[in-house]
Amino acid sequence: YPLKNHNTFGINAFAKEFVQVHNEDELAEVLKTTTGKKLFILGGGSNMLLTQDIEALVIHIDSKGKEVVWQDENTAHVKAMAGENWHEFVLYCIENGFGGLENLSLIPGNVGTTPIQNIGAYGTEIKDTFVSCRAMDIATQEVRTFTKEECEFGYRESIFKGALKDKYVITSVTFELTKTHHKINTSYGDIAAELTKNGVTIPTIKDVSNAVTAIRKSKLPDPKELGNSGSFFKNPIISSEAYEKAAILHPQMPHYILSDTEVKVPAGWLIEQSGFKGKRFGDAGIHAKQALVLVNYGNATGKELLDLSKKIQETVYENFGIRIEAEVNII
Ligand code: EPU
Repeated sequence: YPLKNHNTFGINAFAKEFVQVHNEDELAEVLKTTTGKKLFILGGGSNMLLTQDIEALVIHIDSKGKEVVWQDENTAHVKAMAGENWHEFVLYCIENGFGGLENLSLIPGNVGTTPIQNIGAYGTEIKDTFVSCRAMDIATQEVRTFTKEECEFGYRESIFKGALKDKYVITSVTFELTKTHHKINTSYGDIAAELTKNGVTIPTIKDVSNAVTAIRKSKLPDPKELGNSGSFFKNPIISSEAYEKAAILHPQMPHYILSDTEVKVPAGWLIEQSGFKGKRFGDAGIHAKQALVLVNYGNATGKELLDLSKKIQETVYENFGIRIEAEVNII
């Protein structure tokens, strides 16, 4: 079964078998009848690099639906099924006056995969509004609810990438959103500038969403036009000592102090300084406007993109003594 249209990198790989499920019952049915089989759970395919065919049964989660499950005067709990497109869900929330997700506009992928890596952008992460998610145990088909605490969210991290990797399928996610007193967050430099440019002085959630959308469109390639998976690497978090050491040679290195002991460095800067920004090797390349994004110009294989990513990691390490880790799942 061809997977080219099921991964935003546009890699031409194949699945041994492919099945689509639309709700928890169908998922349970498939899981029950396939015990012992190798399985691969597929959502929006926006955070993976396929380096080979998938010798497994691919289960595509295609459940739809979004609803307000609880509300009072000021707050709404909004639930979305895992197969809902993330950006469409964000727009639905904004149209209904629910605030909290606007900074996460235009992120590719589906709702069900957002908790796995605690997606984040422009000063917000989903953990900020996350209430709970439902998830099915692959082995027993039991469905349980995970609270925010149980998800153990961190920067691009959660229990679903850690201790419970490949154990559960997330089937829906519930967010706590504001109906009044929206917490407009324009702290991230680019947003304020974009709003000013648009003549907005008191921004609404819609204004923020529009600003984020415009910024993302200006920097990040549209997967429909140019295959990519967003940030290919995580921004490395290094010790203060490692930072001090690197800063002797590179005093101009941008950095964010996270605590007394940890500093975060933008990987995009490290990659750009290493000369990779905008470079192309066959059909695999580094985006010209954002060095953190690897792109497929058409017929790059997953292997070619993986090799390029390794070359980038090695060069950055040679130049700065800093190791950068992939953010996307390498399959
Ligand atoms: N930078 C460069 N050159 C580049 C890119 C970045 O020098 O080519 C430096 C600049 O100093 C810039 C800084 O990096 O000021 C930060 O850049 P940017 O605001 O574009 O954000 P980022 O750190 O590169 C992160 C997320 C993005 C998210 C943006 C905005 C990660 C791995 N990436 O990127 O998330 O949209 O912040 O909040 O944390 C994604 O995860 O797929 C993704 C796109």
